[in-house]
Amino acid sequence: MKKHEMQYRKDVAFINREKDLAFLKGCLNERPESILFIHGPKSSGKTTLLYKFLEQTQEHQKLAVKFLDLRETFTNVYEDFLKSFFRVETRGEKKESLTSNINIGFFKIDASVEKKILEKRADPFKVMKAELLDLTRDGIKPVLIIDELQALDKIYLNDDKERQLITALFNFFVAMTKQAHLAHIIIASSDGYFLNTVYNDSKLKKCSRFYKVDYLTKEDVMDWLLNLEKYSKIKDYTLTSGDADKIWETVGGSMWEIQEILARLFDHPLDEVLTAYKKEMRGIIAHYTEFDKNKLQVLEVVNKKEIVSGTDFETLPIEGPELKELLRDMVKNNILYFDPTLALYYPQGKSYQWGIRLYFEQ
Ligand SMILES: Nc1ncnc2c1ncn2[C@@H]1O[C@H](COP(=O)(O)OP(=O)(O)OP(=O)(O)O)[C@@H](O)[C@H]1O
Ligand SMILES: [Mg+2]
Repeated sequence: MKKHEMQYRKDVAFINREKDLAFLKGCLNERPESILFIHGPKSSGKTTLLYKFLEQTQEHQKLAVKFLDLRETFTNVYEDFLKSFFRVETRGEKKESLTSNINIGFFKIDASVEKKILEKRADPFKVMKAELLDLTRDGIKPVLIIDELQALDKIYLNDDKERQLITALFNFFVAMTKQAHLAHIIIASSDGYFLNTVYNDSKLKKCSRFYKVDYLTKEDVMDWLLNLEKYSKIKDYTLTSGDADKIWETVGGSMWEIQEILARLFDHPLDEVLTAYKKEMRGIIAHYTEFDKNKLQVLEVVNKKEIVSGTDFETLPIEGPELKELLRDMVKNNILYFDPTLALYYPQGKSYQWGIRLYFEQ
């Protein structure tokens, strides 16, 4: 151990994802034809997967992979967007490391170009295209990864309220993929409704591909839980396959929740931890639905049918627009997940299913 390195009882695990990483790498072997949208339930591992993909591809001589994580970047005005997309090249820059590929400007420009962009004498989209052309001329494939793109939702080009930045960006991305085949563009979002808007936009739909990153499979979860020392550096306890089964039945393949359960097991027995966890999930549902009959009616349908389509709610005495608003709220609050490609709603994960079930049982 290095001198100042902290010692913890447990480490952050990274399980499998071979199939997803192979899919992403496979895309790079195809000519860019469409924007790739990564979707999936809350905390399904989208961001972690994309960071892993960056780590595995950044050393590749023929690739220029850049990652923009808009959750970490302060982006609420047009200038913030410019700063996150453009970087002024300084003399004698060091060889790029992993961190230099994250959040510090996709496009290297010199100070005079930056000045022109800021003074609105140069069109940033033209500057971006020129940079992409330069790279491809040198035989390098540009790969742009943007996480949490919905953060740009309320930004306007040059403060012109008629021109939404995100629309301009999408037009640019379509031009760079479907039309010019210049760059691979990968976009992830934790906001199911944002991606639904994209999916319902007929212009965009024809130029996009959707890929779902889901929670871990049972096989992966069992492998993890039966090898805690290998994946999580846990030495204080081990689990039997019966124990692992119980954890799977409670939280499924939701990694964040598995980590939470593992942390609690240092101090409490398994059955106690799982019973308490389910009760807490019931509490989340109780808080959310409190004094709201409409929410209750919607969740009752979900409780009976787990995977629900819009038509399953049609018999409820709730007006269409109100129902739509309600479902949007449930997705926003991560009670339900909405799969934009299948137009289906379901609880965010097994633990939410438990919460809903216990709520209606009592
Ligand atoms: N392959 C994996 N194995 C184990 N744990 C993982 C894995 N991928 C992600 N995690 C853990 O799951 C949690 C959520 O991951 P992450 O933030 O990547 O999900 P996300 O889908 O981007 O979430 P959001 O919907 O909020 O954007 C983190 O605690 C992360 O450490
Ligand atoms: Mg994320």
